Amino acid sequence: MDVRLSTKRLILRRPTEADIPAVVAGFNDFEVVRYLTRVQYPYTEADARAWLATRQPPRPTNAHFGIELPGEGMIGFVSLQSELGFWLARHCHGRGLMTEACTALLDWHFDALPDDIVQSGAHVGNTASLKVQQKLGFVEWPGTELRFALSHGRDVPHIRTTLSRVDYEAAKSGLKSRSWM
Ligand SMILES: CC(C)(COP(=O)(O)OP(=O)(O)OC[C@H]1O[C@@H](n2cnc3c(N)ncnc32)[C@H](O)[C@@H]1OP(=O)(O)O)[C@@H](O)C(=O)NCCC(=O)NCCS
Repeated sequence: MDVRLSTKRLILRRPTEADIPAVVAGFNDFEVVRYLTRVQYPYTEADARAWLATRQPPRPTNAHFGIELPGEGMIGFVSLQSELGFWLARHCHGRGLMTEACTALLDWHFDALPDDIVQSGAHVGNTASLKVQQKLGFVEWPGTELRFALSHGRDVPHIRTTLSRVDYEAAKSGLKSRSWM
């Protein structure tokens, strides 16, 4: 069954062929892709088509949602496979949109799997991502590890993070002052 999630400003939905130009544009911005692990740079339309062909309807353990800003179209993605991952087109940064998108995905995920521990992380120096995760209640593991990043073609230092439902609920009450909550 297909799933659509809504927030005050956003719709999270399955990506379609019509979203390919937005995905290609988003992934050809090195300032976005440099912080991702599994996306090559440059990124072609053929890459997007091949990726889209592998998409399945979202499940709480394996979900990949396109983020639509009504009036603007697809502006990024949020996914939860073995880890929570996300990206947003650069012109949309700094408006709280990713924190908002992640809350929709995490509410849905923890409703189905309340005892799960969600894994995530970020490249060392990815202050914005770690700030989003901190606002959501993620806790950083001590130390760093190396991860191969396709866009760099080499290992980069990486911080791992985890989130329990209890920490998420506590963090969400701290987000109540945000206008989109
Ligand atoms: C990470 C990313 C998704 C954040 O999206 P966003 O919608 O701008 O995030 P939000 O606005 O919800 O939150 C960002 C927070 O980081 C803060 N921030 C951003 N850059 C910062 C910096 N250089 N130093 C300190 N804080 C910073 C913002 O002020 C904001 O915190 P606030 O709400 O308390 O003010 C976006 O920057 C992105 O797509 N980056 C490239 C891809 C990426 O890094 N993906 C994650 C891989 S782990």
